[in-house]
Amino acid sequence: MSVLSSLSLPNSDILLAVLLVVVLVAAIHLFILKRTSICKLPPGPTPLPLIGNMHTLDLKRLDKHLMKLADVYGTVYTIYLGNRRTVVLIGYDAVKDALVNHAEQFAERSHLTVFETTAKGNGIIFGHGESWKQMRRFTLSTLRDFGMGKNTTEDRIIEETGHLIKVFESYQGQPFDATFILNSAASNILCSMVLGNRFDYKDSTFLTLIRIVHENAKFGASPKTQLYNIFPFLGFLLSDHKKVIENIKEFHVILKNVYNEYRSKVCKDNVRSYIEAFIIKQQEEDLKNTNLYFHEGNYLSLMTNLFSAGTETTSTTLLWGLLLMMKFPHIQKKVHEEIDAVIGKQRNPRMDDRKNMPYTDAVVHEIQRVANVFPLNLLHETTMDTHFRGYFIPKGTQVIPVLTSVLFDSTQWETPEEFNPSHFLDSNGKFLKKDAFLPFSAGRRICPGESIAKMELFLFFTTLFQTFCFCPPPGISASDLDLTPVIGLTSSPKHFKVCALKRGT
Ligand code: HEM
Repeated sequence: MSVLSSLSLPNSDILLAVLLVVVLVAAIHLFILKRTSICKLPPGPTPLPLIGNMHTLDLKRLDKHLMKLADVYGTVYTIYLGNRRTVVLIGYDAVKDALVNHAEQFAERSHLTVFETTAKGNGIIFGHGESWKQMRRFTLSTLRDFGMGKNTTEDRIIEETGHLIKVFESYQGQPFDATFILNSAASNILCSMVLGNRFDYKDSTFLTLIRIVHENAKFGASPKTQLYNIFPFLGFLLSDHKKVIENIKEFHVILKNVYNEYRSKVCKDNVRSYIEAFIIKQQEEDLKNTNLYFHEGNYLSLMTNLFSAGTETTSTTLLWGLLLMMKFPHIQKKVHEEIDAVIGKQRNPRMDDRKNMPYTDAVVHEIQRVANVFPLNLLHETTMDTHFRGYFIPKGTQVIPVLTSVLFDSTQWETPEEFNPSHFLDSNGKFLKKDAFLPFSAGRRICPGESIAKMELFLFFTTLFQTFCFCPPPGISASDLDLTPVIGLTSSPKHFKVCALKRGT
């Protein structure tokens, strides 16, 4: 006879007793882990078994909530998302110290359930270890070969502004939503580098790709998807992650067709695009019978990464730009004046003009700061046991380098909560670089598209304001415009309509 049955407890009581013991052991285990002087983890709120600190977190504005917790626990602290130990970094000093001074230690990408399911560690954004290094290196060098940071990209962007302006003109000053138009323009810059051609804004495949990127930016880090990442067993109750996974499958079907089309016509002596460069590398690996890196998994993830990262980020920033310029018409007026004085109306803006346009340059930087496109950054993970600022952070710990806390750090910005282009101007009106301007993050995972994005932002913005004056639809005043962001994987403005009024020639 067993000990339990000798106690003659009914079955449900036995179950309850076992559950209580498990919960108690888990609580003691967490408590010891947190307090023991051997570990010296950064401090933090006491977690509950299984759910960690989830019950106290505001998942809708996690960035702001995490910043508030720093008032209690300091700029480096620990929280538990479920049973996942997570170190939070708050403010410019802590984020820079981790990502730049301890670059190797903080270089890994967090393993998030939804993206592990779809990317399986492939590609760059959700890539891990040696495969990530190889794919990142290949991408940077190939995009450079196809014009990243050079005149070729500048010419492509200028060509695209022509198409963009035509679409804006077609509304003849009537209100319209610019989201998909800006998405298409930004996406086409990537398409021309990756595929060697641009798409018509009405092309049905192109529209599908853009819809998927847009939806995944919305659902990829929604509160429901965050819950799924932490408690995958609750997946059957939640919906957003299913949409993300379905979307990525649909994206991959299109990418496989694109691959077959290019594979049949690629020529080693005349490589014209990123995708062709990938196929050539794949053929070289095939000959060596290795197939280590240039396989289908990496192809699908790389292409998905470039379309997603290259489309939503830049276009959302431009969307914020339109909204902010409508909200602050006196700043828009000064931008118009500088464009008229330096470029005039007869020729296209070029990157070379930027050095003579400190005010517009400052406005574009301030738009990026306030747009704060990745409020939580993309989540990192430690690659090894790490000693950081007197604490010990074990290998595999999830890390959140909160970018809102850098771009709105009150020790770095005079008026962090205000839209204030003077943040980027010295007392003589010259452009001023700011160390805490880190919308592209820093360190090993720093955005590889930074130079393309900066070119796009300056040229699209300047050309749009050279051609149009932007104002809210009739009946809506500047003070009615709402700057509260909608937070998903990225932070975007609430839906709004804009009137693009052609400026005199
Ligand atoms: C305004 C535009 C953009 C912003 C604000 C932005 C910002 C960021 C940020 C914050 C990260 C995460 C860095 C980290 O993990 O520490 C990132 C990663 C990345 N971005 Fe961008 N990005 C922009 C445009 C682009 C463009 C145009 C491309 C296309 C080439 C691109 C490609 C990527 C890729 C592939 C990664 C993953 C890097 C890695 O994990 O190694 N981004 N970006």
